[in-house]
Amino acid sequence: MKKILIPSVLLVAFAGLVAVKKIKQNTADITTARERVAIDTTGGYAMLRQRCFICHAPAVKEGMNHDNMQAPPMPGVKMHYLRRYPRKEDFVRAVREWVKKPDKEKSLMPGAIDKFGLMPAFPYPDADLEKMAAVIYDRIHIPKGHRGRGRNGRCGGGKCGGGH
Ligand code: HEC
Repeated sequence: MKKILIPSVLLVAFAGLVAVKKIKQNTADITTARERVAIDTTGGYAMLRQRCFICHAPAVKEGMNHDNMQAPPMPGVKMHYLRRYPRKEDFVRAVREWVKKPDKEKSLMPGAIDKFGLMPAFPYPDADLEKMAAVIYDRIHIPKGHRGRGRNGRCGGGKCGGGH
């Protein structure tokens, strides 16, 4: 009896381990695919998560509906800022200044203000804001279908991003 019991206990334990590993792998895949987060050594991603993703979804998901959102998803925000500010330095500065003092006059997304209302100001330290903005620039993933919209849309001829 004992001889049979021990191997089967081991087998069950082993199967359990494999299952746990698989679940862990799956969760990791979902995080990387959806949020495109690699190892973030600056803490910028953690701050984004706590301070920005509560309103701005970190990724565009299928079937998303503007009606139950509080703010435009971050990939859309990134797209608008990247078009106007293709250089990282300018992008980071623009996002930093926006968050400290949202201003209708400076908005790159006036349609979003009409829809959601002006974003409240968040006077975080510049250093934090720069880390968060850098993570948006480096890691937030813009889905393929959205990327080229500027070319045929309002901006025309790929001329967006150079400023006025
Ligand atoms: C309480 C909800 C809320 C939080 C939290 C929030 N935002 Fe916003 N944000 C909004 C709304 C609503 C808009 C769209 C209206 C607008 O542009 O003002 C917006 C727009 C923006 C825009 C585009 C502005 C424009 O019009 O050009 C940027 C950039 C932005 N948010 C960055 C951030 C960052 C970075 C954080 C985290 C530090 C953050 N937001 C946190 C609600 C929020």
